[in-house]
Amino acid sequence: TPGVRPLIAGNWKMHGTLAEATALAQGVAAGAGGAAELLVCPSFPHLSAVKMAMAGSAIGLGAQDCHAKPKGAHTGDVSAAMLKDVGASHVILGHSERRADHGESDAEVKAKTEAALAEGLTPVVCVGESEAQRLAGEAEAVVAGQLGGSLPEGFARAGGVVAYEPVWAIGTGRTPTEEDVAAMHARIRAELVRAFGPAGEGLRILYGGSVKPGNAKAILALPHVDGALVGGASLVAADFLAIAAAV
Ligand code: G3P
Repeated sequence: TPGVRPLIAGNWKMHGTLAEATALAQGVAAGAGGAAELLVCPSFPHLSAVKMAMAGSAIGLGAQDCHAKPKGAHTGDVSAAMLKDVGASHVILGHSERRADHGESDAEVKAKTEAALAEGLTPVVCVGESEAQRLAGEAEAVVAGQLGGSLPEGFARAGGVVAYEPVWAIGTGRTPTEEDVAAMHARIRAELVRAFGPAGEGLRILYGGSVKPGNAKAILALPHVDGALVGGASLVAADFLAIAAAV
């Protein structure tokens, strides 16, 4: 999207030891530079160490979830304020793995997104259809529904990020055709503009799902693809940096 700086985000999911996360962060920081903004999203226990390992760099720090409430008796949960306090700038919300593993609904994702916004964190809200939904021709309607249900009113004002991750492309090595990615991103843009007006024009829409150094250039060149949310390939600093260099 013209005038929008691409964002390349790494979702480290539930991987790695403290030592591995620290080394990965150092590797990414050592090679950072270039046109794209970078963001890494380690697991909760590694946030502080990764923050320190990237000190002095411009790389953002994101978490992979937060609770909808600011504090309270919620054993095992983490608040947006806690994330902010340890130096996070972003939080991934509504990832399909959380929607599947924890039954997160659009309404819940919306509440979490509101919590993130209240703390000044930039939400990265994930949407995407299942393979059955795509085969049934429902992909765009499903994604439009997720957007409508998951994005709160203040999302655009705060520069929120949307990540389109077709569930069947995550960790599978399969990606949609370039035509399908372009069509979906155009639909997402239209939904953002419909919901938020002109502010929706400049919001970033990331693609996620089996992004690798080999396919990054083609995907990132598509209209309304303003970056990538990278899983597996973000666990190798050189691969993540190669993807960032493809913008
Ligand atoms: O959030 C990123 C992700 O779900 C994509 O994972 O391993 O297919 O790049 P991967």
